[in-house]
Amino acid sequence: MKLTDHRTLGRSGLIVSPLALGTMTFGAAGWGATDEVSRQILGAYLDAGGNVIDTADVYSGGRSEELVGQFIAEHGVRDRVVLSTKFGFSAQRGNPHAGGNGRKHIHAALEGSLKRLQTEYVDLYWLHVYDMVTPVEEVLQTLGDLVRSGRIRYFGLSDMPAWYATKMAALAQADRVPGPVAVQLEYSLVARQLEAEHRPSARDGGQGLMPWSPLAGGFLTGKYSRDDLTRPQGRLSGSNPFQGPFTKFTERNWQILDTLRTVAVEVGHSPARVALAWTLAQPGVSSTLVGARTLPQLQDSLAALDVHLTPSQLETLDRVSSPGPDFFSAGLRQAVFGGVSVEGWTDA
Ligand SMILES: NC(=O)c1ccc[n+]([C@@H]2O[C@H](COP(=O)([O-])OP(=O)(O)OC[C@H]3O[C@@H](n4cnc5c(N)ncnc54)[C@H](OP(=O)(O)O)[C@@H]3O)[C@@H](O)[C@H]2O)c1
Repeated sequence: MKLTDHRTLGRSGLIVSPLALGTMTFGAAGWGATDEVSRQILGAYLDAGGNVIDTADVYSGGRSEELVGQFIAEHGVRDRVVLSTKFGFSAQRGNPHAGGNGRKHIHAALEGSLKRLQTEYVDLYWLHVYDMVTPVEEVLQTLGDLVRSGRIRYFGLSDMPAWYATKMAALAQADRVPGPVAVQLEYSLVARQLEAEHRPSARDGGQGLMPWSPLAGGFLTGKYSRDDLTRPQGRLSGSNPFQGPFTKFTERNWQILDTLRTVAVEVGHSPARVALAWTLAQPGVSSTLVGARTLPQLQDSLAALDVHLTPSQLETLDRVSSPGPDFFSAGLRQAVFGGVSVEGWTDA
């Protein structure tokens, strides 16, 4: 596979590369990339033929968007990239209007993003997180109006319950208005929760999956070891968003990593590349987000496109990382249809 093996994002006309560049590290103090390295990372991704650049208003307090806007202008590639950003998290403590998914904040957030990104429109605008209060109808109307006004071209949903995406897609279809074209969720060998509800919902609603943290924040690169979690310099060795109940350092995950390492040796690639290749091979995935703190990390991730995993290697990885038995199993289907095997539309 190549970065220029373009595909549409879900059931839409938006054309994307199989790997999207995540820029959460741009401008981030501590675990992020310096401005110069960020420039090199974005340049290398474009040179390799990539076309999706993902940021958010909240990344590094807006600095990530500023850098992305600056680099896109320097390269003169605004027309050929899919510029993707997000709204929803608060930028100002104590002011409820500075966050959430209500119409007032969406409009204000978009104005801020357009300014920082030095552009007049966003190609792909994401609801960053379900805010638990705003009605689906209000969000759908607001985003649809923005599509009609030309300020955004498409929109997607991130970090939300599956029912929310299903309802929004159904309303959009019934009302014949623009609906979400993609969903962005955590997805990796150690985080497969989306397979139960979100993937069938996305398939039914025509949304492409865009996995985030496919390397589990660096865990699946294999650089951490059970004996010493602090040794490598990395996001997970210090204070990080994956602590407490979200820690990646669990016995189950170490076992998954052991198997990943074995498969990596078999195919002669790094564990990071194999972990990404597994994500790329999953049904419903349109484009996988890659994040990097250094240029060699990005180059390693891009080389995941060269990895070919056999059905048996994919099955080995699937088995060790299985999220557990699903009630809606092949066995249940056989029971329902009297022992006859029936393939449904949502299986593809
Ligand atoms: N929608 C959401 O809620 C959400 C949430 C998170 C992320 N995202 C998006 O997804 C993108 C990717 O997320 P992510 O950064 O968490 O992805 P990730 O691929 O799981 O982690 C990337 C990190 O892993 C480490 N790494 C990567 N390649 C490596 C290599 N070859 N060797 C050693 N270490 C390596 C680096 O961190 P260290 O060097 O510091 O270890 C790098 O910053 C983000 O940029 C953002 O656009 C979205």
